[in-house]
Amino acid sequence: MREKLIFDLSRNGRKGYSLSKNDLPETSVADIIPSKFLRATPAELPEVPESEVVRHFIRLSNMNYHVDKNMYPLGSCTMKYNPKINDYTCDLPGFSTLHPLQPSETTQGALQLMYELSAMLSEIAGMAAVSLQPAAGAHGELTGILLIKKYHEAQGKERNKLLVVDSAHGTNPASAAIAGYEIISVRSNADGRTDLEDLRAKLQSDVAALMLTNPNTIGLFEKDILAIEQMVHENGSLLYMDGANMNALLGITRPGDMGFDVVHYNLHKTFSAPHGGGGPGSGPIGVSARLAD
Ligand SMILES: Cc1ncc(COP(=O)(O)O)c(C=O)c1O
Repeated sequence: MREKLIFDLSRNGRKGYSLSKNDLPETSVADIIPSKFLRATPAELPEVPESEVVRHFIRLSNMNYHVDKNMYPLGSCTMKYNPKINDYTCDLPGFSTLHPLQPSETTQGALQLMYELSAMLSEIAGMAAVSLQPAAGAHGELTGILLIKKYHEAQGKERNKLLVVDSAHGTNPASAAIAGYEIISVRSNADGRTDLEDLRAKLQSDVAALMLTNPNTIGLFEKDILAIEQMVHENGSLLYMDGANMNALLGITRPGDMGFDVVHYNLHKTFSAPHGGGGPGSGPIGVSARLAD
């Protein structure tokens, strides 16, 4: 249904609200405000009764997507819930009114929180260092792939191919392509896991990295991960983990212990971080000592 603009609902002389009479002396605005700041003609505001204003904005709010209506659909492969208390917490003035250029002595609480969060994320995933900078999982992928690119450049190696397993989320090949890589698809086997023979055949000297989701997008743990890790590293390539399904690993095992060099966390999935009206939900990355040093 189309909602009219509030200006289309306006009719001359309708009033939304009138101030009640009081016993203060009446003063004209012209007596208080210099004439150069006064309008020559009245502002063109809609003239609408209060009930119409309320109904208009309620109708608009009903068109919005919100957690009382449905779950946030981003995060296709992981069950998740983003409780309202998290939105409330983010909205606390200490967070929501921070300015990036504020003097650091006034932002110590937020800095402490970010520092401790990155230390916790490092520990949880077994990675040497974490950056909280990327704004979403896909943004984390791009940041991680660019780090991989820089790593190979620093080694003086030309590697222009990136391997992505065919069950991967669409953002994996998209991020790798944006970073300038040629994407080579690795087959899944009849089991639904990475086909090791196909991987072996495609791991050539120009491969920069393999991107893997673990558990993968059909929910299966890549049980040959240690063999995969060995093959990839022996080839001089790096191992990227899409951490969108990290829920399944928490407290049981860690990407760092499996030999991954880069991992992105989808905080809006694994840790129920708010989506801010359905938008991105934070995608920090962790890197192994190989990249952190
Ligand atoms: C497996 C997988 N990787 C990456 C992403 C991208 O994450 P984001 O939506 O935070 O950009 C998703 C999101 O659905 C995903 O399911």
